[in-house]
Amino acid sequence: MQKVVLAYSGGLDTSVAIKWIKEKYDMDVVTLTVDVGANDRDLESIRKRALEIGAVNALVRDVKEEFVKYFIWPALQAGALYEGEYPLATALARPLIAWNLVQVAREEGATAVAHGCTGKGNDQVRFDISVNVLAPDLKIIAPVREWRMTRDEEIEYAAQNNIPLLSVSQKRYSVDQNLWGRSIEAGPLEDPRNEPSEEVYEWTANPDKQPDNAEYVEIQFERGIPVALNGERMDGVTLITKLHEIAGRHGIGRIDHIENRLVGIKSREIYEAPAAIVLHRAHRWLEDLTLTKDSARFKTRVAAEYGDLVYNGLWFSPLHQDLAAYVASSQRYVSGTVTVKLFKGNVIKASCDSPKSLYNFALATYDKGDQFKHEASVGFINIFGLSLRNQSQIQLAGRTQGEMLSLASPDAISPDAPSEEVKK
Ligand code: ARG
Repeated sequence: MQKVVLAYSGGLDTSVAIKWIKEKYDMDVVTLTVDVGANDRDLESIRKRALEIGAVNALVRDVKEEFVKYFIWPALQAGALYEGEYPLATALARPLIAWNLVQVAREEGATAVAHGCTGKGNDQVRFDISVNVLAPDLKIIAPVREWRMTRDEEIEYAAQNNIPLLSVSQKRYSVDQNLWGRSIEAGPLEDPRNEPSEEVYEWTANPDKQPDNAEYVEIQFERGIPVALNGERMDGVTLITKLHEIAGRHGIGRIDHIENRLVGIKSREIYEAPAAIVLHRAHRWLEDLTLTKDSARFKTRVAAEYGDLVYNGLWFSPLHQDLAAYVASSQRYVSGTVTVKLFKGNVIKASCDSPKSLYNFALATYDKGDQFKHEASVGFINIFGLSLRNQSQIQLAGRTQGEMLSLASPDAISPDAPSEEVKK
């Protein structure tokens, strides 16, 4: 019998998938539960459940360390926030899960891998493209995309096949979570006119539960990577977990995003990412201190590209490899300490210091010790403004004061403007 390795979460979709694949494809199903952190269920019981439903083998892999080292930290260094908002927790985990599916498929001699994604989301794209790149010979089975059962039909199928249901209570929403964040969609959230009710949030305290006192947190970075919290050095998984708890208490990291999916749909997703938001802010402040103006500006463009390609499932792409090299290089002086003040959902900058800070007191100060050459500015402005003086003398001659006031208003574009000239 041929074998397939199924990415298994223990939820309804992938549980039904174990039976459905056996029936439809006549294959042995090996389940793989990839631990990317922030589990709210016991992984051993998930493993047992897979075997009870009929998997021939059920594996659990803890990949938290790799997730932080190869995925989260590089994305943080890149400043990758999709559409300026979403720290990409779900998107970053997919290529790592795909990598592990392929790895186990090889170990088990499987000819296919399977995942529980629907046919209208981003995750199917991320899984399929990653698997195609890593193992073009492996077939991909996506039961939920293929079977087209409604939720009720699925529950019916589960009942007929003795698949025990877990609590149906959280089924109002679709949730995906890992170390870097929690993504919540569907149900009442599908209508952007609905304010998310408080039950949506599990990692971040509601305003009435947030402490009335601010809390300071000091984060130390080395080359753009957080290495210590409040003076204590720790590994990445621990650092993120600790910061998550502190920032979550203060209600930090709630994001309500109408995002543009790769497949053309606008969708509304709520995110909770307390640690990610604090770290992105702190990292950015340290960059403000240590990157030159040009590097900083160029990097925001790289960040946007990087965020798009992660979101779009192109992790294993040459563009990613090349941008990652730029990002890593850009971080060589991004070392130092940032202290943030957490208060009622806000991350407030308290202080920032770096041995490689470009902030030069002798240049910046208005007090004694000022070394900036004030008189040199006159010549600088003369040259900097030269082209504009030239243009205004030629093209704006004779304009009234009133015309100058409304210069930037669309209806002030004069009749002798380009369109006339273009016609000639
Ligand atoms: N919209 C996010 C993304 O594409 C999260 C997708 C999974 N969300 C969920 N609630 N199951 O990365």
